[in-house]
Amino acid sequence: MDAREMKIKAAAEALTHVEDGMRLGIGTGSTAEEFVRLLAERVAGGLKVEGVPTSERTARLCLELGVQLRSLDELPQLDLTIDGADEIDPQLRLIKGGGGALLREKIVAAASNRMIVIADETKIVDTLGAFPLPIEINPFGQVSTRIAVEALASRLGLSGALDLRKRSDDSLYMTDGGHLILDASFGRIPDADALAEQLNAIPGVVEHGLFINLASLAIIAGPAGARVME
Ligand code: 5RP
Repeated sequence: MDAREMKIKAAAEALTHVEDGMRLGIGTGSTAEEFVRLLAERVAGGLKVEGVPTSERTARLCLELGVQLRSLDELPQLDLTIDGADEIDPQLRLIKGGGGALLREKIVAAASNRMIVIADETKIVDTLGAFPLPIEINPFGQVSTRIAVEALASRLGLSGALDLRKRSDDSLYMTDGGHLILDASFGRIPDADALAEQLNAIPGVVEHGLFINLASLAIIAGPAGARVME
């Protein structure tokens, strides 16, 4: 099974949790997009769901494929969110935001009764942090915010580069909400809970990619098939 087939396998398993009439949070990224494609086939076959997309990119794909969308304000409480992840630890804590959608992804996941993570087995880690942690920051005061993040990292014994995310043309990457992203290459985050809590206390930090106590289940696809972590 190649990487794409594993994503499709995880997405197909997640689809078995979707029921008629559900209000669905729909994630962002290549794995979530495989889910959207499979969901659209079921919708074409008569399944009725309403989706809240976690990014403009996901919204465009849903609209193109005929998945009915609502805003989160129209559907403020969701039954289920299905989304990908960049890293998953044994306690189902995640790093997300590789695709830049972490803020909306976290708001949507928090508004959902359940969040199912879909991923291939390369995303499983013992300790979070090999994947650079995305930290979404307000452009106003970005230098002060960076200094505050560096000071926090140092207090927690973390070190590594903080890179302002850029696009391929070298312009600054802006999120759907008009914010910047600092990618923090800490390497290993021994106390993700403390880091998450203390990042939230820095005023210029809009959100960060540590998703803690949000995922209910992860469907992990490998060459031999899919398994569930909960
Ligand atoms: C986007 C995300 C994605 O879910 C994450 O980056 C995983 O993406 P992919 O399925 O393409 O590996 O958090 O902000």
